Amino acid sequence: MKLAPFKKGSADPDDEAAQAADLTHGARHVAIIMDGNGRWAQKKHLPRALGHKKGVEAVRNIVRSAGEIGLEVLTLYAFSSENWNRPADEVSDLMGLLRQYIQADIDEFDDNGIRLKVIGNYHALDKDIVALIDNALDRTAKNDRMTLAIALNYGARDEMLRAVQAIAGKVKQGAVDPDNITADHLSDALDTAELPPLDLLIRTSGELRLSNFLLWQAAYSELYFTDTLWPDFDKRELQRALQSFGDRDRRFGGR
Ligand code: FPP
Repeated sequence: MKLAPFKKGSADPDDEAAQAADLTHGARHVAIIMDGNGRWAQKKHLPRALGHKKGVEAVRNIVRSAGEIGLEVLTLYAFSSENWNRPADEVSDLMGLLRQYIQADIDEFDDNGIRLKVIGNYHALDKDIVALIDNALDRTAKNDRMTLAIALNYGARDEMLRAVQAIAGKVKQGAVDPDNITADHLSDALDTAELPPLDLLIRTSGELRLSNFLLWQAAYSELYFTDTLWPDFDKRELQRALQSFGDRDRRFGGR
């Protein structure tokens, strides 16, 4: 499916009509904790696997919607470093869906200027998935309409530990003076290094926690929680979240 053409980035602040039509409401980077596949299936007396399958349809739909709305970055929490603790058949279902999703949608990413990025230690996934991901990263590297960042085997504490280890390595080599380490050093060592700041973090399914997702990046993000279960989350819901974001008064600790 080819997306409708759009103007990249937020509307000109001096152009009122363009501002009114700016569906991003000024948000550049939105992340989503996609929760509730299991409960969606349970409510319909279906197996959990079907909830996840429906969850992938919601992913496809929201990636398209985010592109149409004009977001610069959409980051999705697809598999956490703690999700390995789920029953083996569920982990295997999720991996199977990931495989299928990348294979089925890589052409669409390319057709629509979507650059794929992965955050998290994805090299621990099955070799064939790592190869699929590496190929998709290569193929879409120059696309610049939107970045789709998928969090795989991701945990914020793990990400921060890896960043600290990388910085410690530079200290050891004498390349960085420990007294001069700044917040920028840490930001630059995170998996999200080249992405714009996280504006809005959405969680579906009514749970009110961050579950080890983007803990550093969310320091000044706006948070949006909805009771909607992930498989039912659609473009209208995304627009509602962005509208809410647009109504917030962001002070970043100032006044
Ligand atoms: C939470 O539902 C969802 C996940 C485990 C992560 C999201 C996964 C998908 C949308 C499918 C795979 C994604 C891609 C990109 C291929 P849950 O099982 O925790 O729901 P519950 O809390 O209701 O049990």
